[in-house]
This record gives sequence, C-alpha cells and structure tokens, in this order.
Amino acid sequence: MRYRRRGQQDGGKGSDHRKKSGLKQEEKTSWTEPRAANRRPGAMIQGSEAVMFHFGVDYYPEQWPEDRWPIDADLMMRARFTCVRLAEFSWGVLEHAAGTFDFGWLDRAMELLAGRGLKIVMGTPTASPPSWLMQADRSMARVSETGQVVAYGNRRGYCPSHAGYRAHCRRIVTAMADRYGAHPAVIGWQIDNEFGDRCFCASCAAAFRRWLLDRHGTLGELNRRWGTAFWGHLYRSWEDVPLPLASGSAPNPGLALDFRRFVSDLYVEFQREQIDVIRPRSPGRFVTHNFMGFGSDTLDQHLLARDLDFASWDNYPRTQWHLSADVEPAAAALSHDTTRGLKPGGFWVMEQQAGSAGWEIVGVPPRPGELALWAWQAVARGADAVVFFRWRSARFGTEQHWHGLLDHDGSVTRRYEEIAAMGASLTAVAPRVDGTAVSAEAAMLLSFESRFSLQIQQTNPGLEYRRHFAAFHRALHRANITVDVVSPGDDLAGYRLLAAPLFTVVLEDHARRLETFVRGGGTLVLTFGAGIRDKHNAIVDSRPPGRLRELCGLEIDECDSLPPGAKRGLRFLHRRFAAGTGRHPACWCEVLRLTGAEPLAVYTDGHYRGRPAVAMHRLGAGRVIYLGVAAEQPLYDAMVPGLCEMAGVRPVLRTPPGVEAVERRDGERQVLFLLNHGDRPRRVRLGRSRFTDLAGDGRPLHGHVTLPPLGVRVLDRASR
Ligand code: GAL
Repeated sequence: MRYRRRGQQDGGKGSDHRKKSGLKQEEKTSWTEPRAANRRPGAMIQGSEAVMFHFGVDYYPEQWPEDRWPIDADLMMRARFTCVRLAEFSWGVLEHAAGTFDFGWLDRAMELLAGRGLKIVMGTPTASPPSWLMQADRSMARVSETGQVVAYGNRRGYCPSHAGYRAHCRRIVTAMADRYGAHPAVIGWQIDNEFGDRCFCASCAAAFRRWLLDRHGTLGELNRRWGTAFWGHLYRSWEDVPLPLASGSAPNPGLALDFRRFVSDLYVEFQREQIDVIRPRSPGRFVTHNFMGFGSDTLDQHLLARDLDFASWDNYPRTQWHLSADVEPAAAALSHDTTRGLKPGGFWVMEQQAGSAGWEIVGVPPRPGELALWAWQAVARGADAVVFFRWRSARFGTEQHWHGLLDHDGSVTRRYEEIAAMGASLTAVAPRVDGTAVSAEAAMLLSFESRFSLQIQQTNPGLEYRRHFAAFHRALHRANITVDVVSPGDDLAGYRLLAAPLFTVVLEDHARRLETFVRGGGTLVLTFGAGIRDKHNAIVDSRPPGRLRELCGLEIDECDSLPPGAKRGLRFLHRRFAAGTGRHPACWCEVLRLTGAEPLAVYTDGHYRGRPAVAMHRLGAGRVIYLGVAAEQPLYDAMVPGLCEMAGVRPVLRTPPGVEAVERRDGERQVLFLLNHGDRPRRVRLGRSRFTDLAGDGRPLHGHVTLPPLGVRVLDRASR
C-alpha cells in the first residue's frame, strides 16, 4: 500500500548525477551526504531502510532571504518534518534565458535541508513558465474556451500540445534531473502542478484532428458515429472539424466528449515526456502528480495516474471559495478515497491546508484542532504522507492571503504548534501503522466518461454527476462504511457492494465486468441514466438502460424531468428500506417496466402512481438494485444501511453523528482511527475489543472512549 523500494531511497553513494549536469553558467557543486548524526530521532518517522510516512511541508526558499533558511530548517525539524517539496514554480528563478541556469540557490537550499536529514520532493516547474519564455512566442500561450489567448501573469497559461513549449519543458526538466536526479536527499518528483486546463488553440485543433483520425479512421466513420447528418454538419475534410469552443450554443455531444478524451490523452503525453526524462536520471525515486481530488473533473485522472508511482492530491477544506462555518468531513474523505483508488499502493497529500486560504479574500481560518484533524483523516484513509502547504505565508504575489504554518513575518503560530504536536504523535503511532492499508468491501465506480457526458448535456439541472456521486458516498461515510473509488476498468473481485451512480456511458466491456461481479455474488447499485449513452455519446438504439437491460431485468418506459422544487412520493415494499417511504424532492423519475426484476419501491403520485421506481434483479449469486428516481441526500441515507445489510458489508464501528471511524490493517494488525469532526465531546462505544491508545499513555482501553471536539484517537486493536 505504500511506496517502498528497498535500498533505493538514498540513491547510493558515488552517484553520478553531477557528471550529467547541463550547466552553462553555473559551477557544478559537490553534494555532501546528509550526515546520520544530523538526523534526530523521529526526523524520519519510522523505519530503517525505508520511510513509512512522510510528514512535510511545501517550501519556497527562493521567496525568502538566504539567512533565514537555517531558522526555517530548524523549525521544520522541531515539527518532526521528514521532507520538503521544492522548486515547483521556480523555473524563472532557475533559468534566466534559454539554457542559462542558476542552480546555486537551490543547491545551497538542498544542502542545508539535507544536512538536517530532510528528504526532498522535487517539483518540475513547468506549470509556471518564465516571462522571457512566454513573451518570446505567444503561440505557446493557452487559449481559453471562449477563444481568448490567456494573458501572462498567472500560471498554467501554457498550451500542452505546443511542440516548442514542450521542448522548453524538456530542457528545464532534463537540467534538473541531471543535476538532482541522484542527489542523496531526493526521494521523488512531482510533475507540474494540478493539471486540468483545457486549451483551444490552433496547435490543439491540429492535434485533436490527428487524434480523431487515429480513433475513427475515416471521416465517414466519424460522421456516422457523431451523427453529423443532424443539422447537416457532415464534415468533408478533417480541417472542417471544429473545437467545441464556447459559442453560445451546444456542440455536437460526440465531438464534445471526444475533445475531453483528447485533452486527457494530451496531458498524459505531456506528463509522460517529463517522466521519461526523469526515470533514467533519477533511479529508485518516485514520480507523482498532485491532483485536486474528487472535485477535479476536466481530465480523466485514471489515465494520468497510470504512468505514476502513486497519485497525490491537494486538500483544502476551507478556502475563499467555501466561506462556510461548517466543513463537511465526507468531502475530503471522498477525495482521499478517489486518490487512493487512482493507483494501488497508497497515495500522498502533497498540499494539506496550513491556515486561512484565499487569494483576494481571506478564507475562514481553520479552527484550533482542525488542521491536525484533517491531516489525521488523510492518514486514516490511507495516505502515506501529509505535506503542508505552505511553510510561511507569502508577503508578495497572488497568494498573499493563502496562509502557511508561519505568519508573513516568519513568526511561529498556533497552527505551527498544532502541527508540531501532531508530528510528535505521528512518531509514536508510526511503528504500528507502518505496513497497514485501508481495505474496503464497498466500492463506488467513478466514470469520467459519464461525468464528461453529463457536463455536456446535464439532462436536468438537478442531475449533476458530482452531486449524486458525493451524496451516495456521504451516506456510506455517515454509516462508517469504508469505500474504495474505482474506475470502470478496475478489478471488482473482492467487493461485496458496488455503486455506480449516473453510469451513462457504458461500453461492452464495462457491462461484462458488471455482470461477472453480480453473478459472482456482488450487489450492484445502478441509477437513473445508466447505460443511456454509447461510446460516442449518442443515445443508445434500444430501450434504456441499453446494454444493462438484461443485467437489470428491466426497461425504462418513460422519464419525467421535473422542475426545481418538485417532489415525488415513494413507497418501499421491503422493510429494509422502510425509512425511504415518503415524499422526496426529485428532479428525475424513471418509470420502470420490470422484465425479470422485482419491485422494491413504487411511486405514490404523478401519472405513474403505482409503477415501480426502484427494483431488484437477482442474477447468479448476486443482485442488481436499480434506483430510477433522482432524489436528494435523505433517500440515499435511507437506502444505504439496507443495501449494506443485503450485501453483507459492515460498518467499521457505529459512532455518534460527526465521528468518523476508519481502519487500517495488515493481517491481524488493526489500527482504528476515530475522528470527531463535531464541536461537542463524543463518547464512542468500542464494543468487546480491547485497544491501546497509540498516541496516548499506552494504557489498555475498552468499553468506550471519549473524544473532545475535533479530537482524534488512534487505537491499536489487541489481537484476539
Ligand atoms: C493549490 C496549488 C498551490 C497553491 C495553492 C493555493 O491548488 O497547487 O500551488 O497555489 O493551491 O492557491
């Protein structure tokens, strides 16, 4: 579950990274090995040859006077940090003109940090190209969906398909990998930063047409699949195929879906170019990318993760864009679960909120205890590292209001002290957690193609993919059901319950996998919209749910698209789901005709009163539950316990509201994390097991435990 390459972490002595430096102006420096004596106990949270957890911080030494660096490094050690991420936006500071590098400052910063025993994650700086570069050739600039060339002054203002830009990226990444690839303190690389911006420039249009040619073979085939006879759009030459620019009217759904797929593939290629530079120059080091969790929906994260050792994400529960008093614990949980699911073997939180977060506006500051609580939640849900963003609040630049662990003047804050205390607890807990992983019996299927399809045509204003997916996940989270988020291509064996909300774009292979899952004893939950689209985003030429008809044992007779505020009554026929009986806000009702399934609930109003709204089809050793009504959270909350019961999925522990329970295990070893997200103390019953409080006084615990507001307990379950 974790990144671990035995014996390779330190790159070994006598590494030849210095020989390869492509320096023009810079003198080559010689590294000194970080001296073991400098490593204080706990500097590396656990382990001998390998590090289990990393606990770290995103540091920008180039933004601060050099005589401050030693103070920073000492404070990092006091917080028991084990790693720092460096250089992520430093291109303009590292390269002053094409091929003219200044690595001196970075060499010195690394020397100092490595001298304290800190490990380094090197960021490639390609998200923020220098002004001299972008002003020299404006064709490298990204073009927005409205056709505007993105002005220089922010970041990610580049076009990912531009051959010239890509050559510049290869140069800076090669220079960095040559110089630092085998540096003894470097443990890994982060490529670019938070991919996601689509570009609509001429270079992308040309690349898109080449991609289409590869995918569709001939224009005739493309015209057929996209149905361009509609409005007589038939393309007679590849150059006729437009980009789905925001023109005020909706694009062809086939074109729009293919464009989204193309952009995902483009970033995969862009990322791979950098990975190919890094891997041979930095053997034994990991390569990752910092995604943005579940909310990020412009690229298919599953595709991007394939080339990485593990995925990372950036976790900001309170920001200027979420100015609410409350933080919803299920939201970060969903992003942890999503990122964990991108790649087997653990994940990192590469940026964890360190203070009030905003650009123009100061976000609501995290309450005392929240920073540590959120970081523990990451560990509980399987993170192998938590890295705080950022070390010190920036005095200059767009992110002046995005607070770090230290204040603008460099002084230590309560935030820093809170995280330093967490560092001490983590050191105590680490030996027992090392080697454990989150394991789930329930999964949710995240289909980026379906999500894209609904972005293009939402079908009903209430049918937001993200909202329904998150609502189902929230219901599982509230019930303390551990859940993996999987992709349509993942192995489903081993799960008992699989929910695939709004799984609209279904390929033949997907349908086969689902059927195998069900026949093998799985409980599959499908919802409204399932199977309605083919690969090309056309509506299927059969009764919905299309390819899933036989699996579901039903057909959709008709659909009612309801206006905002509408409600529909449901009566559940099965006692397990009795809590769902009643009137529900609903935006979309499908009237089911059962061809093998049995009804679980019927509508009690509308012209389809008495007709099935929810049904169950038994197949092989398993069953499919089809939910035809798009309602709100209370319906998911009412159904999830019954679904879990049917599937034989048990909660980690029953806890009072607001207390999250998650477990990491390795065979007999079980570590239970209890996280109180509420502002009141909560008493949690522990059942019959005996526990040891790993971060406490080590005394045995049984019966119950009381958690203070925002409190965390990490409990070792005694083996029976
Ligand atoms: C993240 C980004 C960081 C920083 C932070 C605050 O999304 O990765 O580099 O910009 O937001 O805006």
